[in-house]
Amino acid sequence: MADAEWVRQQAGVSLERLWPRVAALSEQTTPAQWQAFEARLRREWERLFGLLYDLYGGNYDFFYHLEQLLLAAGRSWLERPDWLKQLDARREAEPEWFQSQRMVGGVLYVDRFSGTLAKLRDHLPYFKELGLTYLHLMPLFEAPEGNSDGGYAVSSYRHVSPALGTIEELAGLAREFQEQGISLVVDFVFNHTSDEHEWARRAQAGDPKYQSYYFIFPDRVVPDAYERTLREIFPQVRRGSFTWREDMRRWVWTTFNSFQWDLNYANPQVFRAMAEELLFIANAGVEILRLDAVAFIWKRMGTSCENQPEAHMLIQAFNALARIAAPAMLFKSEAIVHPDDVLSYISPQECQISYNPLLMALLWEALATREVKLLEHSMHSRFKLPPGCAWVNYLRSHDDIGWTFDDADARWEWIDPAGHRTFLNSFYIGRYAGSFARGVPFQENPDTGDARVSGTLASLAGLEQALQSGDQQLIDLAVHRILLLHSIILSIGGIPLIYLGDEFGTLNDYSYVNDLDKADDSRWVHRPPADWQWRAQVQSDLASPHGFIYTELTRLIRLRQEQPAIWDGAMEVIESGNPHLFGYVRHHGGQRLLVVANFAEEAQELDGNRLRVYGLGYQFTDLLGGGSISAARALRLGPYQCVWLTATA
Ligand code: GLC
Repeated sequence: MADAEWVRQQAGVSLERLWPRVAALSEQTTPAQWQAFEARLRREWERLFGLLYDLYGGNYDFFYHLEQLLLAAGRSWLERPDWLKQLDARREAEPEWFQSQRMVGGVLYVDRFSGTLAKLRDHLPYFKELGLTYLHLMPLFEAPEGNSDGGYAVSSYRHVSPALGTIEELAGLAREFQEQGISLVVDFVFNHTSDEHEWARRAQAGDPKYQSYYFIFPDRVVPDAYERTLREIFPQVRRGSFTWREDMRRWVWTTFNSFQWDLNYANPQVFRAMAEELLFIANAGVEILRLDAVAFIWKRMGTSCENQPEAHMLIQAFNALARIAAPAMLFKSEAIVHPDDVLSYISPQECQISYNPLLMALLWEALATREVKLLEHSMHSRFKLPPGCAWVNYLRSHDDIGWTFDDADARWEWIDPAGHRTFLNSFYIGRYAGSFARGVPFQENPDTGDARVSGTLASLAGLEQALQSGDQQLIDLAVHRILLLHSIILSIGGIPLIYLGDEFGTLNDYSYVNDLDKADDSRWVHRPPADWQWRAQVQSDLASPHGFIYTELTRLIRLRQEQPAIWDGAMEVIESGNPHLFGYVRHHGGQRLLVVANFAEEAQELDGNRLRVYGLGYQFTDLLGGGSISAARALRLGPYQCVWLTATA
């Protein structure tokens, strides 16, 4: 790292030299617009310069890249639509907007949900009814036909897949959704491109400029050296992290599928090219950019090539650029790694929001064990985020579930981490006697015995098995598990995110095995197409578990949106004194909320004294159940019941 004072000086001198070229752009806009850009640039410049200098200062042509980047940022600002510039100003004036209790997220695949972007618009009333303020459209850019890893192999960052619509339609939708209070979330798949991207094609044709965009090797010497310390991500797809390309007679670095080529960010040209793609996507009206696979973007021999310091610097540099030319846009980190590493990506200068894989995994862990000790211990120390940041709390995503908890946390609670993971896998794959879950294994590693779990929320929570058994009691238990999990992500603090379909308790869809492009990837079991006819039937049928889940969930969402205490992520875990009860206190805007959740299928009690101490009162109202509760006695919670208590006296 260069010395701070030196960087400051050099940043100043460099900007002075570069400024005349950049300022020439000012003629193409109004003085006020240009001033806004210049002010942001001057505010962020030193940080951006320092990061880029550390990353690329050793390149002889560093200054050229700096100049090109600034020009790209300037041009992008000129092209930014006015409505987004207004949003930029609004968001800057209210930077904590996403901490609001009104925030509720949904995620969907356009093709599986509505078919096309045009038809997605028709579902706006539905999104409003559900209370969504955040809508993540799964990858929708051009991708190879057939298997494209669900779109995570991008062939063009500027064109929407023709089957879904056009980039203009996406931009139109972004604006319309924004007017209705829904922020558009889209992926930035920036660790790799598809092997059909123009850059990869040129590399295949032998163009050395584009070969340097990727990691391409003539023989196994370097790949073998890297592989000594790499983790296999998709061991069922292909062993190792490199793919042999017969057409080029070369090995290519492919962390994920063989058609996903890792980009080489040590090349400043790659950073610049991707920065331009990022700004283009921002100008389409994307408000939250989900940074895909952040852990993998920098490689260093002799390491796991995950979570390298340069990965953070790259994201911070992208962040600075966004602050300059598209300040309304936030970054969301997708780091499904050790909890310490997940945290390392979260800061206002890097990713303001992040998936919370730890909470997700531990909610399932507590459901399986009926004990909350690991959840309680981990959330106690690992939930807090820096100011200006927020978790995205989810119960499952389009991906598999992995048992990402800290081994030391587990040992502290007398849990053997490896044995526990084996237990959790067999529990959720349904191999454990007495398990309620119907998951499917994902990427079992024959060498390490490692595996992850696929499955919809409802199937994992027991609804599939219960419906097959026809046993009403088991169905009720499964429904209550589903509602219990939601009542936590809706109240714990951060943005709750629902994989759309789960709001109806959609079950696993095993038909993926008949599709050759999907059969090898069990994650398709939990990405079923929306069945609108079925939904219409069950939606208001409270006798159907699906209708009941939907009705209750929409009620929970409304309740969340009315509670000032749920603003932001400040949360204090309580010591419930009962191994099955997980509880926490939320406090904001003059409201105090005590949430207690029972993870057992038998009734449990919370001692009246604890209720008084944590709830700060004697009489309480349960916002969820509507009843009034006195601390004169123990609080009794039914199977999988959750209460949201506020003191009334
Ligand atoms: C992320 C995505 C996952 C994809 C991978 C490679 O982890 O969530 O679906 O397979 O990145 O892009």
